[in-house]
This record gives sequence, C-alpha cells and structure tokens, in this order.
Amino acid sequence: MTNISHNRWVDYVVFGLSLFLIFCLVFDSYIEPPRLVIWAGRWHPLVLHFPIVLLLICIFLGLTGKKIPKLLLTIAVVFALLTAISGFFLGKETGTKGDLLNWHQWLGGGLAILAAIWYWSEGISFDKPIFSKILQVVLTGLILFTGHYGGMVTHGEDFLALPIERRAHKIPENPLIYKDIVGRILEDKCVSCHNPNKKKGALLMTSFKGLLAGGEVGKTIIPRKSHESELIRRVLLPFEDEEHMPPEGKQSLDAAEIQILERWIALGASDTLRLEELPPSEPLLGLVNTYKKASPMEQWAKLPNVADSTLLRLGSDYLSVRRFADGVNALSVNFYKPPTYDSKQLTDLKAIAENIVQMDISGLPIGQKEMNLISSCQNLEWLEIDQTPITDVELDTLKVLSKLRILKIYSTEISDKSIKVLKKMKGLRQVYLWNTAISAEALTDLKSENPTFFIDSGVAKELQASFGSSDSIPKN
Ligand code: HEC
Repeated sequence: MTNISHNRWVDYVVFGLSLFLIFCLVFDSYIEPPRLVIWAGRWHPLVLHFPIVLLLICIFLGLTGKKIPKLLLTIAVVFALLTAISGFFLGKETGTKGDLLNWHQWLGGGLAILAAIWYWSEGISFDKPIFSKILQVVLTGLILFTGHYGGMVTHGEDFLALPIERRAHKIPENPLIYKDIVGRILEDKCVSCHNPNKKKGALLMTSFKGLLAGGEVGKTIIPRKSHESELIRRVLLPFEDEEHMPPEGKQSLDAAEIQILERWIALGASDTLRLEELPPSEPLLGLVNTYKKASPMEQWAKLPNVADSTLLRLGSDYLSVRRFADGVNALSVNFYKPPTYDSKQLTDLKAIAENIVQMDISGLPIGQKEMNLISSCQNLEWLEIDQTPITDVELDTLKVLSKLRILKIYSTEISDKSIKVLKKMKGLRQVYLWNTAISAEALTDLKSENPTFFIDSGVAKELQASFGSSDSIPKN
C-alpha cells in the first residue's frame, strides 16, 4: 500500500462534501433550505458540465491503462460533489419532486459518491486493478443515465420557471380566470401528481390543453356542465372515497376553490375569459375575492409580536399557551380543568387577546367574564366552549367574532334564540350543536341561510390538521 502524497485539506473537503451530500439525500423531506441556498442551486446547470468532462477524461485514461493525474481526478470529484449538492438545492425549488427528478437526484447523488470512493481508493493501490475498472465502467453508466434523466427533467417540463415565484406573485387586478385563478388552484393542489413526470390517471393538469384532453376515463371537463365533469365529481366525493381528489393525506380544496372550479366550467371553461368581462351578478366575482384573501399563514404574519416570556408567564400546568409554529405570533390556548378554577387565569390572557387564534376551554365553569375575554379575541378562528354552563345570553357576546370559523358548543343550554347570533357570524363554517335545546327546524333554517355551512363537515381537513390534535367529538 502506497500513499500518493497530496494535501490533507483536500481530503477533508472531499470527505465533508460527501457527508453533506449523503445527509441531504437521506433527510431530503426534512430539509427546507433558506432562499439564498436555494438560489445557489441555480448554478447546477452551469457547473454540471465540468465533472462530466473531467470524469470522462479520467475514466478514459483509466480504462486505457494510462496514469490518471491526481489533480485531475481531485478536481473532477470535487466538482461532481458540488454539482450533486447544487442539484439537490435546485430540486428543492420545485416543491414536489416527480419520478423523473427523483431518479435524476438519486443517480446523480450516487454518481458523486461513487466518484468520491474512487478518489479515496486511488490512494490505495490494489493488487487487482479490476476493482478500479469496474468502478470506472459503472461511473460511465451513471453519467449517461443521470444526464438522460436530467435532460428529461429540464426539457420535459418548464422546470426552472415553475415554483416559488409563481405562488408568491399577486393575482393581477383583472385576472384571466383560467391562468391566474383556476390554474393556480390546480397547481397548488393537483399538479404534484398530474404533471409530465407523474401523470396519474393519464391526466395532465399543467396545461389547458392537457386538462381538456382528459385522462384514462375520458373527459375531465365538460364545458358548461360542471356537474357532469369528472373533475368536479371527484372533488365533491366524500373524503373517505377512494376516488376523492386530491387523495387522502393531501391538502384538499376548500369550499371557495371548489365553487370557483364549478363556476368556471359552468361558464364554458374558457382560457381567455377575464374576471371583468363577467356580469356584476356573477357569483364567481365574490368567490375570487374570497380566494384572494391571504392564506392563514399570511394573515398571521400581521399579528402583533408576542414574547416567549409572556407565554411562559401566562401559562400554567393547566393552561397551555402555545405558538402554532416557531416564530409565528398566532397562539393556541388550551385550558384543562384545574382542581380549583379561578376566572382570573383566563381573563389575564387579555394582554395577548389579539394573538389568540384557537381556544379550547370546554368543560370549564365559565360565565360572562370569560365570554368578554373571548369576544376581545378578534382573530379567533376556532373556539371550543362545549360542555360549559353558557346560555343564549352569553353566546350573544360572540357575534363580534368575524373570523370565527369553527365553534363547538354542544352539550350546552343554548336554544333557538342563538340561531340569529350564529347567522350573524358570516365567517362560520362549522358548528357542533348536539345535545342543545336547538330544534330541528331552527337547524334547517340556519343551513338554508348559508349553503356552504356544514354541521359536521365542510371544514377543509388541512385546517383541522393545522389546528392540531383530532377531537373526541363523535360524528353523527
Ligand atoms: C397525491 C397524488 C394526487 C393528487 C395531489 C391529485 N391526484 Fe388526481 N389522481 C391521482 C391518481 C393516483 C389517479 C388515478 C387513480 C384514480 O383514478 O383514482 C388520479 C386520477 C384523477 C382523475 C381521473 C383521471 C382519469 O380520467 O382517470 C381526475 C379527474 C383527477 N385525478 C383530478 C384531480 C384533481 C382535480 C386534483 C386536485 C384537486 C388531483 N387530482 C390531485 C393522484 C392525485
């Protein structure tokens, strides 16, 4: 065994880059690089040519029995690793990786790591040079396949132009309904499985043409007949249905999104129609407005800052005050029944009332004082006050909560008188009302007032997921 003399630090660089690459590949789904790092990925198409050429030269020298200059191999290997790493970051830009991109990533990663192994093994001279030869042949194959898949990724789809920018960009004033609204909804929720790399059900949703062409079972969209359209049928199926789109576990469409798709098809599924061409009575106008309102995360970004020390001070063994995510000022409050209840524990939350987005105080002996606190939580979206002594009188306090979407008030004394309060809460999407004094007629009345209102379903699953744990409330 002879050691070819070379710089120590080069060894460290090769070793470090290899480890980093392996780490990236293995923990791919957990890694969310900052934008600057993702930007570095843009160098991938530029740098990738160096290692291809250099490695092929080394392989050629190796296979023809000539001596491979150590410097050449070193540069080739370092570039191979850098190329694989930059490629990994570039891949992060697409959000969801299709099959082609996954293949390309693993082949490219394998290629770089194998090149690194070659680098190390060159320090050792084997009795059997056959090992080196096999390695060189395998590398050649990897270079060909990686390049092939890489080419398909870039040419098969508008890959570099796709992601982040598009989602971040604002919907224009007078949007094209297909391109700026419908296309965006499909891109958010459907395209990850219906694109050229991953064409599930043989349906392509990345282009208008593909959408019209349909999939395995035929037409996906029948212009002017939204309810005969396969696309609408699928999104309206119950979540549990195998054919529901998107499939279980994926972010569902919310009510406004579904209605936008329906109306767009009902109006003829045009790709040139603009919003302002619609008559003022067209429901699509209102729906698009609803859709334009920012996502919860964006809304929460506007909340006032709240310090960690404040959260600690206000919380206790029985009262948890938590952020929805690190660095987010939206708070979730959960109160578990303490041995001795004092309303002060809850009314002290006044200081952070604006930040409270979700609150569960079910089962507590609350009264008007607590209801006053709740009504000061203007940003409250989710409230659980079931199994409490509240009545129609206290419930009236809630009518000011315009953002409230989910309300659990089952097993309380409220009666038909509360229906008018519930009707006033325009943001309300879901109410749990069992075991109250509310009559069946009053319920029908409530439903007729707002057709998108559901008693036990209708809230997008992802919303429930983002509000944390599942509930023990029985579904009827
Ligand atoms: C997680 C992957 C995934 C997502 C996301 C997804 N789909 Fe699908 N889709 C599939 C699969 C798999 C099939 C084929 C199996 C089947 O027919 O149920 C399919 C089939 C379909 C079909 C039937 C095509 C045909 O003609 O056979 C339609 C329509 C459809 N999807 C619409 C949608 C819509 C609309 C969305 C977005 C709201 C969406 N899909 C999101 C995986 C997905």
